[in-house]
Amino acid sequence: MSTFGAAPAPVLTEAELRLLQALVYQECGMHFDERRTHFLQDRLLRRLKECRIDSFYAYYRLLISKEGKAELAKLVENLTVNETSFFRHKAQLDLFQKHVLEEMLKRKQAHREYSIRVWSAGCSTGQEAYTLGMMAADTLAYYYLRNPLPVEMAMPKPLIPPPWRVEILASDINYSVLRTAQEGSYGEHQMLGVDYGYRLRYFNKMGARYAVKKNVKELVHFDFHNLKTEYLPQRNDIIFCRNVMMYFDEAEQKRLVEKFYRCLNPQGYLFVGHAESLLGLTEKFHMVHHNSGTAYQRVEVKV
Ligand SMILES: C[S@@+](CC[C@H](N)C(=O)[O-])C[C@H]1O[C@@H](n2cnc3c(N)ncnc32)[C@H](O)[C@@H]1O
Repeated sequence: MSTFGAAPAPVLTEAELRLLQALVYQECGMHFDERRTHFLQDRLLRRLKECRIDSFYAYYRLLISKEGKAELAKLVENLTVNETSFFRHKAQLDLFQKHVLEEMLKRKQAHREYSIRVWSAGCSTGQEAYTLGMMAADTLAYYYLRNPLPVEMAMPKPLIPPPWRVEILASDINYSVLRTAQEGSYGEHQMLGVDYGYRLRYFNKMGARYAVKKNVKELVHFDFHNLKTEYLPQRNDIIFCRNVMMYFDEAEQKRLVEKFYRCLNPQGYLFVGHAESLLGLTEKFHMVHHNSGTAYQRVEVKV
C-alpha cells in the first residue's frame, strides 16, 4: 500500500530536487549533496503526505508563498539531525574546563570583570548547554576557593559565587527541540554520560526521569536563532557550535565562522565538533589543544 493511499507516491524530478535543495539551503544553510538526497526525499514525502499535496512542485509553490512560512519551518525541523548527549566529547570539555575557563577567569578578574557568557549554537535538546552550565559552576566554585573576593556570601550559597555571573545562551532553529531543552527532563538512556556526582548535585529524580535543578536551569536561556541570518547574539566569551557546520557546505561554513568571529569578545574561543575543523576556512582563529581536545581562539590584530 502506497503512503498516498491507492495512488502511487509522487516522483521527485531532478528539477524539483534542485529547486527544493536551493530553497532549504537559502533558508537554513543545510546542504543536501548526493549522499543525503535520499534523506531529503524521504522527509519531503512525509511533509507532502501530511499536507495532502500530491506533487513536489505544488509543495515547492506552497513553501515559497506567504501562507507557506509555517510549513517551511516545519520542513526545516524535519530535516535537522538532533543527535546530542551530556558530556559529549569529554577531552574537549576538559580543555574547556581546565584551560579555557581557568585562563578566562584569571584574565577577567585582572580587569575586574566578573561575567562569563557562553553560547551553545545549535543546542538541540539542551544537553550541551546544561553540561556547560554544570561544568562552569564547578569550575567557578573551585576557582573561588583559591581566589576569594571580599563579597558577603548569601546563605544558602548561590550556585555561582558573587560577583561572578555565568550566562549560557542556547539556541536552535528547531522549536520542538527547544521546548524539550527548556523542560530539562531526561530519561535514563539520555543520562549515560552523567556520573553519580553530577546526578546528585544537579538533578532531581522524578519517577523514572531526571530533572535539571532550578539553579542550573537559571543559568541557561533558550532561544530561537537561525545561524543562516546575520542577526546573531553578540558579546560572547565562548561559542560552542558542535556538529552543526558539518551539514553546511564550505561557502556557508566560511560565512558562519566569519559571523562567529564578530560574535565573540576579543580573545574569545570557538569550539566546533570532533569531526569539524576551521582548517582552510579562516585565518582569524588559532587552534589550542590539550590531549585530543581542540578549540579555536580569536586572533587579535595588533594596532
Ligand atoms: C547534531 S545537533 C548538535 C547538538 C549539539 N551541539 C551537540 O553537538 O551535541 C545539530 C543541531 O543544529 C541545529 N541546526 C541546524 N541548522 C541550524 C541553523 N541554520 N541554525 C540554528 N541551528 C541549526 C539542528 O536543529 C540541531 O538541533
